[in-house]
Amino acid sequence: MHNFHRPLPFPNHHPEAYLSLAREPVFEPGKHLALEQPTQCRSLTDLGYANSEIQTCASTFGYSNAFRILSSEGVAAMTEVCEAIYDNRNDSLGTGANRLGSYARGAGYRSRFLRDFCDSVDLAEHLSAIAGVELGRHSVPAVACGINYAPDDITRAVDSWHVDSVNFDVVMMVTDPAALKGGEFQVFEGTRREGEALLGTSGEAGGTLQLPASRVSTIPFPAAGYGFLQQGSHIFHRACRLLEKAKRITLIPSFEVLPAHDPDTTNTINMSDWSDPGINAELARHEVWRASARLEQLLDAIQLTDEPQVLAAAIRVTVDRLTQFADKLEAIR
Ligand SMILES: [Fe+2]
Repeated sequence: MHNFHRPLPFPNHHPEAYLSLAREPVFEPGKHLALEQPTQCRSLTDLGYANSEIQTCASTFGYSNAFRILSSEGVAAMTEVCEAIYDNRNDSLGTGANRLGSYARGAGYRSRFLRDFCDSVDLAEHLSAIAGVELGRHSVPAVACGINYAPDDITRAVDSWHVDSVNFDVVMMVTDPAALKGGEFQVFEGTRREGEALLGTSGEAGGTLQLPASRVSTIPFPAAGYGFLQQGSHIFHRACRLLEKAKRITLIPSFEVLPAHDPDTTNTINMSDWSDPGINAELARHEVWRASARLEQLLDAIQLTDEPQVLAAAIRVTVDRLTQFADKLEAIR
């Protein structure tokens, strides 16, 4: 029996395409973390989301400013690990809409240090307090621990306008942001739908189009080891192109809402088109786990006086996401 108040354990094996690092530091929360509070937060209401949309979310939290996450020892160890993984990053072609130039998803398969950092209870509790909702490390390993590197061709944006396929994520600067010309992280001060309408795009296909500067905020990163939290499924954001070739590494640990029967905006339908090894089994585990939690809740709620139509509606609501995901899997060729 799974504990729906804790993150789903990682699978007990991993796809062959991921090479584990032979040598790496051991993650020690007391040594590598230096968690501080953000000083500013924007809510979904501030960004213009309607109450009807917010009601489908587990939290009204939008995004925060950058706050310290890693100690100087943590930055040094994280840099060592991310640089070692660079040679085993995902193929830049054929994953999703090929939005990201250069990246390593599933980095927790490659590095025990990264996996333990992303799985840290101290980190999850800290982020939960900021978001005002209980968060746990994301159950899909491909996105639980992601690394973005600057593309070799700096005329390309590091990451174009989009919302994330996960519910919550941190964007943390691993390299020194002061050494960068360009490469800023920007947020659209509006709703996802508004941003997409202004660009004429949808989903993850943001392109390199511009939004009105008056509606765009740049998130300052004071130093390496600082990151910010966002409800990524609702924040329209991008990482700008570099103006000079430089090392720019960001770590993107993702989180989902707990307990597992609570609302979840993870976009498994979109992610099932990604080419990451094992991705559809990872997504199936996520949907089965969360449906199990909803079914257990329904089991406790059913009354012997419930009418057939009421029971049918409750069952359909509980398994709807799971059957939609199965339909999507069947359509994959
Ligand atoms: Fe993103």
